[in-house]
Amino acid sequence: MVHAQLHCIFPQCDSRYSVNSDANACTECAGLLDVKYTGIDASSVKELAQLRRMNNTKVHDRSGVWRFRHLLPFYLEHAKKDDNLVTLDGMEGNTWPIHLTHAAEYAHLPSENVWFQFEGNNPTGSFKDNGMAAAFTHAKMLGRTYVACASTGNTSASVAAFAANELSQMRAAVFIGDGKIARGKLAKTLAYNPKVLQIAGDFDDAMSRVQEVAKSEGIYLTNSVNPFRLEGQKTIMHRVWEGLDWEVPDWVVVPGGNLGNCSAFGKAWHELYELGLTTKMPRIAVINAQGANMFYQLVQQGAVWNGGKVNREDYNRAFANAPKAHTRASAIEINKPVNFYKALRMLEWTNGVVSEATDDEMLEAQAVVNRNGYGCEPASAATLVGMKKLRAEGIIRPSDKVVGIFTGHLLNDAEALIEYHAGERKYQFSNQPVKVPNSLDAIVAALR
Ligand code: F0G
Repeated sequence: MVHAQLHCIFPQCDSRYSVNSDANACTECAGLLDVKYTGIDASSVKELAQLRRMNNTKVHDRSGVWRFRHLLPFYLEHAKKDDNLVTLDGMEGNTWPIHLTHAAEYAHLPSENVWFQFEGNNPTGSFKDNGMAAAFTHAKMLGRTYVACASTGNTSASVAAFAANELSQMRAAVFIGDGKIARGKLAKTLAYNPKVLQIAGDFDDAMSRVQEVAKSEGIYLTNSVNPFRLEGQKTIMHRVWEGLDWEVPDWVVVPGGNLGNCSAFGKAWHELYELGLTTKMPRIAVINAQGANMFYQLVQQGAVWNGGKVNREDYNRAFANAPKAHTRASAIEINKPVNFYKALRMLEWTNGVVSEATDDEMLEAQAVVNRNGYGCEPASAATLVGMKKLRAEGIIRPSDKVVGIFTGHLLNDAEALIEYHAGERKYQFSNQPVKVPNSLDAIVAALR
């Protein structure tokens, strides 16, 4: 019998709660919560996932999230069947790792050892759809009909699309920082028709406000502080594992903002290991934007999980006094990451590292990805910057198998691309349009 429960992540507290609760924090010690399982049948995980992938008739088997539902069976507490699983018609999570020659060369790594997974190819243009499938499933399980989030633009679009797809059964409100959102993301968010509140502040401000509002108004919170959302994001790693023919890579590299994704990745590998399905852990590298690098700084200063024995007052003070984040990679313009403690724990589990990327480095790496015929937004390109840096520092070795996750779609931030290629400033890989008179001779001459 599978059993799921919410546990406080701090072993010293270890308070437990029913999964039929929308608590995002431990009532005893305010710690973050994990969904924990007993009784998962590990024997048929690989076969089931593959069988389901071949089966194109059932919507939940087509979903890259629900194909792995036996590894996130929190919903079984509520109903003994799959009918309540929320999906964008099976479209979320249909991603897998691929090779990109130019990007691997750019990082000075042999292409055959490097894979990239484009989570921007999810229906709403980012990895968030993986998490939202699970969070909406949980919201429905609790009978909730109003959901909310704070966002730099991708979470908001995903929440809005999932709510819209539930037709009139689910309302969504999204809180965005005033002027802190790329236009492509604002456009897709508005388009899916949630209530959009533009808060006079940045993401960190919007995040604090939405947490207060969710609590006071009883609205279901879909940010990554919600442990069920991270259950969905675990499947990003399940697909990496499957894509590498069930081999565990040496490294997974991912950008860090609110630190939900890297925490979900750590949990995914930790669980596979505990279930005896794998025999090693990958190392996880988290890449902050240099202008939003509180996590990087605190780890540099010696922050470690230490089995949960951390001085939370010190860190809470550090976050209260954190400088305003400032980066061109607006997706990760975050200096008060809500999943800080889970991310610290992930570093301990995976012998992980944290690095940082400047805006120019991200824009250049983004252009390198484009030169392979693929695309991602600037924040996602932090992955390639980090890979290159860690290779240059000798931390990633040439023989290591490395997987980079690109988190968002190229067109989420079209302004960044136009500035890079056609703006005043020339960058290494700029592709300026050539201005020609409307005459055949001039056009032919320009083509030579
Ligand atoms: N990459 C992209 C494209 C993102 O949109 C985000 C977060 C991240 C990376 C960071 O992931 O928070 O799990 O560390 N975007 C959130 C949003 C904040 O509102 O769309 P994380």
